[in-house]
Amino acid sequence: MHKIYNMIERLFKKKDITSILNESKSSNNELKRSLSATNLVTLGIGAIVGTGIFVITGQAAATYAGPALTISFAISALGCVLAGLCYAEFAAMIPVSGSVYSYSYTTMGEILAWFIGWILILEYLFACSSVAVGWSGYMLSLLTEWGVDFPQQIAGATFDHAKDGWIWTGKIINFPAVFIVAIVSAFLIGGIKQSALVNNIIVVIKVGVILLFIGFGLSYVDTSNWVPYIPENTGNFGEFGWSGIFRGAAVVFYAYLGFDALSTAAGEAKNPQKDMPKGILISLAICAILYISVTTVLTGIINYKELNVPAPIALAIDSTGEGLSWLSPFIKLGAIAGLSSVILVMMLGQSRIYYSISKDGLLPKTFSKVHTTHGVPHNATIFASIITGLIAGLFPLHVLSELVSIGTLMAFTIVCISIIVLRKTQPQLNRPFRTPFVPFIPLLGATICIVQMVSLPWSTWARLIGWTILGLIIYFTYGLKNSKLNNKP
Ligand code: ALA
Repeated sequence: MHKIYNMIERLFKKKDITSILNESKSSNNELKRSLSATNLVTLGIGAIVGTGIFVITGQAAATYAGPALTISFAISALGCVLAGLCYAEFAAMIPVSGSVYSYSYTTMGEILAWFIGWILILEYLFACSSVAVGWSGYMLSLLTEWGVDFPQQIAGATFDHAKDGWIWTGKIINFPAVFIVAIVSAFLIGGIKQSALVNNIIVVIKVGVILLFIGFGLSYVDTSNWVPYIPENTGNFGEFGWSGIFRGAAVVFYAYLGFDALSTAAGEAKNPQKDMPKGILISLAICAILYISVTTVLTGIINYKELNVPAPIALAIDSTGEGLSWLSPFIKLGAIAGLSSVILVMMLGQSRIYYSISKDGLLPKTFSKVHTTHGVPHNATIFASIITGLIAGLFPLHVLSELVSIGTLMAFTIVCISIIVLRKTQPQLNRPFRTPFVPFIPLLGATICIVQMVSLPWSTWARLIGWTILGLIIYFTYGLKNSKLNNKP
């Protein structure tokens, strides 16, 4: 009996917030604090604007919501802002690189922190590899347009999941996907400052092409395309009408992902307590405005029914005839650049999670080594890039993207609940940013996330369970024995 009690005590042992803060200040392994508030906002936009706006917008308008996808974007933004406000409180209060993992170590104890760290790895690993596969698709289409004959054997996933189970596609590997992961990792190993600079340039390019599209596209809008604004429901739930708007919101949720990855860079921000909340909330707001504007122009230029294509923005431009044809290659280049920065920030997030977990002893020490000159966790970055590259090279997009949402929603729920728990258990902590209307906002945020999680298919849940079991095996065979918190002298 005593043994069981002892074990439970170990599993749920909590880290003291003050010790986390001291650790982040005094550790020899400290990451370089070089990110300004502007860097954080651009890192946020770099992580957020990607496949969602360049691909999913058109498909969601065509199949779920029509022109009213603007309302879906607004609803989805609301859910993200609620979670974002909670992230902001935590990121300012505990400005270390582990994000939700570190927050839950202080609120819910070691095993739950490990669980959420493991879920975050799932989110960033699969988000990163799915975007790399998307990048490969855009790159191949641009190469074809330029007349380059890329060898088909290395232009697609090795495996696919069909009705009858896994099949071998006959291809060797998706080389462009592996290539972009390798390039991005090289930048990340070069240092966070350099990565932030590359990201800033990319953000200017991608936001630039989006603004060009909005600005020039506006004069090609035919307002009759917006009638009816909310197409009538087909009789099936989720196909137009209000249910379509809500399903559209769940689908475009993916387009906002990435602001949470920003909180993993809190350990590298110059003034995290003031700047993290700004970074998270401003980048979310800018993206929401961009998305709603793009959708408005997109569904105004071309009828929503025609938008179910891989490159809807390019299609809208082509439909204007000679008028905007000069913009088409810029849009493709903007998308290619845009997707690269999403990979960059998601990879940054992934490596910082390995780093933080390893610092606590739950993963091998090598992941928390920081490069003496570059000031980045280079081993964690190399490991993240190998795994991401392999997954992106071997599997197709639809298999990878499935797992992204469930991991993110789970993380958001835990952040929202943790805010309430910590306000009760540790009311005295210094909170440079306070989530307004607690517990109302966190509760609403958690509810929206839980509702979306429940609506995900069983197969996604089954994969999540498989991933969790793998995580628990690693924890019980390695983490528990090596945990610094549980093995303090
Ligand atoms: N928000 C990111 C994108 O849309 C994941 O690509």
